[in-house]
Amino acid sequence: MEIVRKVNNISELCAQARTEGKSIGLVPTMGALHAGHVSLIERARKENDIVVVSVFVNPTQFNNPEDLRTYPRTEEADCEKLEAAGVDYAFIPSVEEIYPEEDTRIFNLGPVAEVMEGAMRPGHFNGVAQIVSRLFAMTGPTRAYFGEKDFQQIAVIRRMAELEGFDKLDIIACPIKREADGLALSSRNVRLTPRQREVAPAIHAIMAASVDDAKSMTVDQTIKSVVDKINAHEEMEVEYYQIVNPVTMQPIADWNEAPCGEAVGCITVYLGDVRLIDNIKYNIK
Ligand code: PAF
Repeated sequence: MEIVRKVNNISELCAQARTEGKSIGLVPTMGALHAGHVSLIERARKENDIVVVSVFVNPTQFNNPEDLRTYPRTEEADCEKLEAAGVDYAFIPSVEEIYPEEDTRIFNLGPVAEVMEGAMRPGHFNGVAQIVSRLFAMTGPTRAYFGEKDFQQIAVIRRMAELEGFDKLDIIACPIKREADGLALSSRNVRLTPRQREVAPAIHAIMAASVDDAKSMTVDQTIKSVVDKINAHEEMEVEYYQIVNPVTMQPIADWNEAPCGEAVGCITVYLGDVRLIDNIKYNIK
């Protein structure tokens, strides 16, 4: 594995690979790698000749400076995992390398970016669009891999790709990886206290149980039941729980509005100052 720190270098290496007719799989990350990231890399490894993983804590997508400051940075351990997963190029640039000048682009991301994370974290998705569009332009991947834990982010990236004309590139959504007790893997999990870590699996357990309950409940009742059950744990506070159309990300008011009966419940929960997100699929036929 080669560690690449300069934009020019990664662009040249990828251009060379494309000239040789090789496919390129890109896995954008912010580091603090866990088994969820490794599953994306494994998939990219199977489906492409060359695998590029970017490790970059992107400042423009943090609307909370404290969150940016405390975001885990574990480059050495990350590189060991990348090497073991058979990555060709680990692209680990500095902030100055990616943003030699301020990125002032405002993307017209539309309704997919206006709800949930978009409403709670102003500017977040514009920052995601800024960095991901740069990574796409720098590496020219054949396929790019993203985890479904950030379900709304994938819809936003698809929209950005459409706006920016990345139409030949396949954006591949990969399933959420969970701990044995159901907690969705997240780089933020390491910040949970032992007590918070003990209760956190209830988030997934309660959402998963609601999939069955939903068959005899309205959308509003399902939402209320999930929120009440999670909030009953004194360590947890739901920021939002919305059940949305999986393509448009717009909240549905009735199960009939779910295309082919499919909807996704998206949640954000605070445990102290740690903000966790998760989601679950509903299939109401
Ligand atoms: O999901 C993430 O880790 C980030 O939002 C991404 C896609 C790497 C962009 O910084």
